[in-house]
Amino acid sequence: MRDYPKILVPPPGPRARAIVERDAAWTSSCYIKEYPLVVARGEGVMVEDVDGNRFLDFMAGIAVASTGYGHPKVVAAVKDAADRFLHICGSDFYYEGMALLCERLARIAPGTSKKRVFLTNSGTEATEAAIKLVRYATRRTAIIAFRGAFHGRTTGAVTLTSSKARQHAGFGPLLPDVYHVQYGYRYRCPWCADEPACNRGCLRVLEDDLFARQLDPHDVAAIFVEPIQGEGGYIVPPPGWLRDLRALCDRYGILLVADEVQSGVGRTGKMWACDHEGVEPDILLTAKGLGSGMPIGAMIAKESVSTWESGSHGSTFGGNPVCCAAALATLDLVEGGLMANAAAMGERLKAGMCRLAEKHACIGDVRGAGLMVGVEFVKDRGTREPAPDIVHELVQRAFERGLLLLGAGKSALRLAPPLVVGAGDVDIALEMIDAGLGEIA
Ligand SMILES: Cc1ncc(COP(=O)(O)O)c(C=O)c1O
Repeated sequence: MRDYPKILVPPPGPRARAIVERDAAWTSSCYIKEYPLVVARGEGVMVEDVDGNRFLDFMAGIAVASTGYGHPKVVAAVKDAADRFLHICGSDFYYEGMALLCERLARIAPGTSKKRVFLTNSGTEATEAAIKLVRYATRRTAIIAFRGAFHGRTTGAVTLTSSKARQHAGFGPLLPDVYHVQYGYRYRCPWCADEPACNRGCLRVLEDDLFARQLDPHDVAAIFVEPIQGEGGYIVPPPGWLRDLRALCDRYGILLVADEVQSGVGRTGKMWACDHEGVEPDILLTAKGLGSGMPIGAMIAKESVSTWESGSHGSTFGGNPVCCAAALATLDLVEGGLMANAAAMGERLKAGMCRLAEKHACIGDVRGAGLMVGVEFVKDRGTREPAPDIVHELVQRAFERGLLLLGAGKSALRLAPPLVVGAGDVDIALEMIDAGLGEIA
C-alpha cells in the first residue's frame, strides 16, 4: 500500500518551522532554500519531513538520489566500507574500492579509447580538474562553454557557468580566456531573439562568428558542453548537434568535455547522455547520481589526454572509500535494471506531460530523455514568452500537497525523480501537476 503523498500538517509544520528558524539564523546567506522542506528520512521515492508529512519526490535532491532513498544495497555497501576504514587518502595510498571504481568508470565511459579516472567530491571539482587537464594537455588556454550552461560554483567552474548573473556578481575577475556561445536549441532561443540559422541549432556561431572575428580555434583548449542542459532548463539539443560539435572539435584539435554531472549514470535511460548520439568525448564529468547521495564525482579522460605528471593534481578526500563503495553499489543497480526503468518511466512521464500540454495552454514544450524531463511554461505559445511565475506557483503548490518539484532555467519545470520511480508514482505526479495547473489557471 502506497502511503505517500500524505500531508498531516501544512508544511512547514511546527518542528519544521523551528529548524527553518535556526537554519535561517546560522547558515550562510548564500543558500537558496527552494521551499521549507525539512527532511527526517526517506525510502525509495518517498521523503518524510520532521512533522510526519510524506512527499513524493520528483527532484531527487536535485538529480542525486538515483537509487532512491536508503536503497538497502547502497546502505549495506556504505556500512560495510565504514566499518573497515573511513579514510586513507587515495591521492597518496591504495585501496581496492578506488581501483575498482576507476576501472569500472573507464570501461563504461562512451567509446573504445582507453580511459583514466580522477575521483572528486563533487561536480564542480570534476570541472576544475578538467579545466586544468585540458590546458595542461593542449598547452592552449582558451575555453568555450555555452550560454545557459552550469558547470559548478568554484571559481574556475563558475567562469564556465552561464546560468544566472548572480552566480558571477561580485566575484570577478574570473578565469581569463573563457567564451560563451549559444547552445543548440530546437526552437527559438529563449535567451535571445534569434532564430537558429538551421535546425542544427546554433553551431555556426562558432565558425562563422567567434572563430572568424575573435578567437583563433588553434588557441582553444576545449569546449565544455552538457549533452542535455541541466540547470539551463533541461534542454535537449537537436539530433546530430553533439556529433557536429565533436566533428568541429576534431577539425581544430580542440578537446570535447562532456559535463554529465546531471545527465549521467543512467538518468536519461542510457548510462550517459552522450550514448544517445554515439559521441565519445575526450573527457567526461560525472557526480550527482554516481554515489546515490554520497559525495563523489569523477573526471574520466582518454589516456591520450591524461598526460599530467604525478603530483600535478590531487585531492585529500576525493574518492573516499565509503563513497567509492556507494558508487560501485549504485552502478550495479543502474546497470542491473534502473537504467531500463528510467527509459520506460521517462516515456510514461513524457507522454503524460504531452497529454497535459493539450489541456493546459501554458505548457510550451515537453522534452527530455529518460527521467530528465523538462517542461517549458509560456505566457503565449505563439510568442513563446516565458512564464516563470507559473513554474514558481506550481512548485510551491505541489510542495504544499506533497509533491516535490523544482524549476530550471528561466521558466521550465524539471522532472527528475529517483530512477526507482514506479508507474503508479508517475501517474500520481501527473495528476498532481494537472490539478496544480488547473488551480493556477
Ligand atoms: C551539469 C552540472 N555540472 C556541474 C555541477 C556542479 O556540481 P556540484 O554542485 O556537485 O559541484 C552541476 C550541479 O548542479 C551540474 O548540474
